[in-house]
Formats: sequence, C-alpha cells, structure tokens
Amino acid sequence: MSPPEALWVLLLLLVTVSSCKVQNVSQSMEVVDLRTSRDLQYVRDSEPLLRGVDGRLHTYVANPRTLTARSLQELKGQMSQLRPLLSVVEQYRLDLQTLATLRMELLNLSIVLTAIQEEIGAYDYEELQQRVLLLETRLHSCMNKLGCGRLTAVSNPITVRASGSRFGSWMTDAMIPSSDSRVWSMDGYYKGRRVLEYRTMGDFTKGQNFVQHLLPHPWAGTGHVVYNGSLYYNKHQSNILVQYHFRSRSVLLQRSLSGAGYNNTFPYSWGGSSDIDLMADETGLWAVYTSIPNAGNIMVSRLDPHSLEVLHSWDTGFPKRSAGEAFMICGTLYVTNSHLAGAKVHFAYHTNTSTYEYTDIPFHNQYSHISMMDYNPRERALYTWNNGHQVLYNVTLFHVIRSDG
Ligand SMILES: *[C@@H]1O[C@H](CO)[C@@H](O)[C@H](O)[C@H]1NC(C)=O
Ligand SMILES: *[C@@H]1O[C@H](CO)[C@@H](O)[C@H](O)[C@H]1NC(C)=O
Ligand SMILES: *[C@@H]1O[C@H](CO)[C@@H](O)[C@H](O)[C@H]1NC(C)=O
Ligand SMILES: *[C@@H]1O[C@H](CO)[C@@H](O)[C@H](O)[C@H]1NC(C)=O
Ligand SMILES: *[C@@H]1O[C@H](CO)[C@@H](O)[C@H](O)[C@H]1NC(C)=O
Ligand SMILES: *[C@@H]1O[C@H](CO)[C@@H](O)[C@H](O)[C@H]1NC(C)=O
Repeated sequence: MSPPEALWVLLLLLVTVSSCKVQNVSQSMEVVDLRTSRDLQYVRDSEPLLRGVDGRLHTYVANPRTLTARSLQELKGQMSQLRPLLSVVEQYRLDLQTLATLRMELLNLSIVLTAIQEEIGAYDYEELQQRVLLLETRLHSCMNKLGCGRLTAVSNPITVRASGSRFGSWMTDAMIPSSDSRVWSMDGYYKGRRVLEYRTMGDFTKGQNFVQHLLPHPWAGTGHVVYNGSLYYNKHQSNILVQYHFRSRSVLLQRSLSGAGYNNTFPYSWGGSSDIDLMADETGLWAVYTSIPNAGNIMVSRLDPHSLEVLHSWDTGFPKRSAGEAFMICGTLYVTNSHLAGAKVHFAYHTNTSTYEYTDIPFHNQYSHISMMDYNPRERALYTWNNGHQVLYNVTLFHVIRSDG
C-alpha cells in the first residue's frame, strides 16, 4: 500500500531532473525556432497531467483514511516546490528535439518507477522520502542551471519605494525559499550600522513591520549582500569582510580580502567608499574590487561563504573608476559605464571562459544616480538604489543550453 501520490511526486522529480539531463542533447539548438504544432500539443497534453497531481493530493486531503495527514503535508510541501516545473516545461516546449528525448526518457522513467514501486514493497515511506530529498537537491541546482543565460535586455524600471538618503542598498535573499520574502534595507554608505528587516516586500513598500539589526562593526559602501540567512559586508575603513548571521544576531566570520583597496581608494564612479562590492548569483558568492597590483582594474573573486576565503580570482582588465556599478548573472560579471543618466551595461566578463566582451544594453536610469545595483537570481531582477528610490528591473536572459548536466 505505497502511497500513489508519493510516486507521482517522484515521477515529477525524475521528469524534471531528466529534463536537465537532456540539455546536452540540444546543445546545438541555441536558437529555438522549431515551433511545430506537435510540440505545443505535447506540452498541452502534459500540463494537465502535472496539474492533475495537485488535484489528486487535494482529494486525499479530503479523504485522509488513505494516508496519514503528516505524510500528506510533506508531499504537499514538495508539490508546491515543484510548481516552477510548469514554467520550466513551458520554457522548453519549443525545443522539439529536447521534447522528443524527454518523451523517450519518460518511457524509461516509468520503468524506473515500477522498479521503485517493487523496491519499496510494503510502504517503505522513509526510503521514499530519502529519494525525494535527494532528487529535490538535484532539482534545485538543475533548475538554476536551466534558468541561466546571457543578459540581452533590461526591462523598464518599477519604483518600489522612495526612502532613505541618496545612497544606500536593499535586497532579498536569493538562497532561501521564495515563501520567505523578507527585505533588508541599509541606508547610507558611510559608517552605517542599522539594518532594517521587513517581513515582506509589501511591508517594505509601506514601511511597516520591520525589525532592526544593529551591526557590531560599521559598514563601508553599498556593496552588501544577503546570502543564505547572513549579511556579508565590508567593514568600515578596512578590507575586512564580515558575515553577520540574522537569526543568531551575531558575527560568524571576519576575514580580510587580501590586497583589496578600501576607504574610497578604488570606488565605482560615484565614490561612496564603494571599493568592495559583494554579490551572489546562481553559482555562489562573489567579491568585486581592485588592488594596486591590478592597477585599478576590476578583480572578481569567487568566495567560499563558509570561510570567506577566495577560491578563484579573475582580472577583468576593466578600470574600476570607469564603472558605474557591477552585477553578476550566471557567472558573468556585467559592468555599467556610469551611475548617471544614459548609463548602459557596457562590459561583460565571463568567468567560465576568462574572456570579456563589450556590450550595449541600455536601461532607464530614471532618477539619475545609481549607487547600488545587484542581481537577484531567485527573482531574476536587478535591485537598484537610485537617488533615494528603491527600483527594480527585470532581466531577459538568452538561454544557452549547457552540456555539463
Ligand atoms: C551528453 O553528455 C555526455 C557527458 O557529458 C556525453 O557523454 C554525451 O555524448 C553527450 N551527448 C550528446 C548528444 O551530446
Ligand atoms: C532508455 O533506457 C535504455 C536502456 O536502459 C537506454 O539505452 C537509453 O539510452 C535510455 N534512453 C534515454 C533517452 O534515456
Ligand atoms: C559562458 O557564460 C556565458 C554567459 O553566461 C555564455 O554565454 C557562454 O556560452 C558560456 N561559455 C561556455 C563555454 O560555457
Ligand atoms: C545555507 O545554510 C544552511 C544552514 O542554515 C546550510 O546547511 C547550507 O549548507 C547553506 N548553503 C550554502 C550554499 O551555503
Ligand atoms: C580613510 O580615509 C580617511 C579620509 O580620507 C582618513 O582620514 C583615514 O585616515 C583613512 N583611514 C584608513 C584606515 O586608511
Ligand atoms: C517582472 O516580471 C514579473 C512577471 O512577469 C512581473 O510581475 C513584475 O512586475 C516585473 N517587474 C518589473 C520590474 O518589471
């Protein structure tokens, strides 16, 4: 009497993981123009199937004798995490070959499923849960990779709020589930210590429901980032990076970013002690800075979030003083050429290939003074602080299908 819903969840996970696996098959199909009615029909056919699983769960909630309430709750939680799968399927529905392979893998997976069903025999729920957990981990990294691509456009801005001084920084945490939509705001660039934590984006907009964190060490610049429940920031008048953990309200780590300029020696074009810019993308935590040996050119380093050690560094060759801001998407650093009106995304450095290119991606700089710009991979949005306004942009990424699944 193994729960059929659990198997459905497993099937869904397997399908998703397998859609990641088929990426390499479509390696050469970067331009998705094979739109055929068969494709669309396939997706139309499979979507109700996926949605149907959710319906089944509700039926079982109404009729709890078939399963324990607890296992159902767990499965429901997993289901809600799977919802983005629909948009992933959507994204790939124009890729005829991928779908063909996916269909083949689906056939294979039904065999796997049968095997699992036999394996678990008389309701080995524990093992099923273990498998679901394992697959979920793969699913998350897989979905991040599926979403990756090259920046091709920045949307029109949306002003979320006007608050604080001219310079500052605000953000959400891309590493935690999207049900947690806390927003952090840090006003000013010089010696600040007060971090405001709003419960939701709606609360941030209205300026209500917030708690305050008073940092033990003041910050410099606006290059802070919230990553996996901690604030990472540059300590005032030093090149020390600090990890402040919100839940325990304590500093977990401090480490100097060796050689990095600080104290407004190598800021972005707007100044403001913006020597060290920390950021996170789909692939992890990064620091953008420069040093005297690098002659003021932008360095980008991958950081270990657990030790703040530099894992790898790249010299982009782009002068930091000519940069308005910089942000990271999918392992590529994008640099704007000004903080003022008329700014463009002007330069891109690909850490995957250690190569650069000049780009010409315009965006509307509505309030003419951007002092912070960071990408949030969970929301696919750019967070900016523009002259006392908190502004969001969406980004368009061109999906390059990668083979390292
Ligand atoms: C997919 O990737 C695997 C391992 O990277 C490779 O062995 C295989 O040949 C690739 N298949 C295609 C169709 O590119
Ligand atoms: C399906 O399974 C067979 C046998 O295990 C294997 O040879 C084949 O490559 C699989 N096809 C796909 C698309 O995974
Ligand atoms: C490197 O990353 C860029 C941007 O994400 C992408 O366009 C490019 O195809 C990648 N190159 C390789 C070899 O993976
Ligand atoms: C995020 O934090 C959790 C604990 O809060 C930890 O188990 C996990 O390894 C962290 N993830 C990363 C990528 O640092
Ligand atoms: C930082 O800059 C200020 C103003 O230029 C200067 O007074 C101070 O001594 C500097 N501190 C350090 C640690 O370099
Ligand atoms: C980004 O796109 C989402 C979904 O289409 C939309 O709800 C949101 O308002 C957009 N944000 C911006 C800044 O355009």
